[in-house]
Amino acid sequence: MKIIMLGAPGAGKGTQAKMIAAKYGIPHVSTGDIFRANIKNGTELGKEAKKYMDQGLLVPDELTVKILLDRVAQADCANGYVLDGFPRTIPQAEVLDKALAELGDAIDIAIDVDVPDENIVKRMSGRRACLNCGATYHVEHIPPRKEGICDNCGQALVLRDDDKPETVLNRLAVYHSQTQPLIDYYTAKGILKTVDGTVDMEEVFAAIVELLENK
Ligand code: AP5
Ligand code: MG
Repeated sequence: MKIIMLGAPGAGKGTQAKMIAAKYGIPHVSTGDIFRANIKNGTELGKEAKKYMDQGLLVPDELTVKILLDRVAQADCANGYVLDGFPRTIPQAEVLDKALAELGDAIDIAIDVDVPDENIVKRMSGRRACLNCGATYHVEHIPPRKEGICDNCGQALVLRDDDKPETVLNRLAVYHSQTQPLIDYYTAKGILKTVDGTVDMEEVFAAIVELLENK
């Protein structure tokens, strides 16, 4: 099963994608996580990506597409994957579709996690991320067992550089202009499904599982 998670920044794409990956035994592929790992390791790609990410802008398609296509060509993706944060522009979606079509393959479902803008800024300021293992928490909704420490790997949790309120507003504007058109794109292909992302994360997950099981 090849799944795309759509939704505004902070809608819960990453939270749900990790739960899907664990339940169905497929890799969770997040371009944002790949960029953050590169920033942490000081690679050239990380330095380039950081220039855009810190302003809430998209990393250019040329850089992003190559990384994603390399990642999904790896052996662990052979039985499917859940994409989180890719595609984010129509050209990215077209490149992905073309690459899959060349293999006689296609995306099975695109799930839009719907959360209104007014909920987003509040969520983001409470998010804490582990840059070591990619786990995310929320100071109120999903707190770690020990404040400031990752449950999985024991590393310190941080507020992501791009989660400051002014950057979040930029990310939302970029989302509406460049990423939201993908909803029409996947609707036209007949594979778009929407879930309410404002409810408890377990309820969101139950709605997603229902969609996946009834496909
Ligand atoms: P990326 O890392 O993809 O960030 P994003 O899309 O802005 O999304 P987030 O990770 O912020 O939110 P999320 O939807 O995953 O929410 P989460 O589950 O964490 O991208 C970062 C940057 O990288 C981009 O701005 C861009 O520069 C670049 N980039 C990445 N991919 C790119 C691409 N394809 N092309 C170009 N550039 C690219 O949840 C948010 C918070 O809410 C958490 O604290 C969570 O615990 C909490 N939460 C989750 N669900 C619930 C719930 N149901 N109720 C209450 N709280 C909840
Ligand atoms: Mg995420």
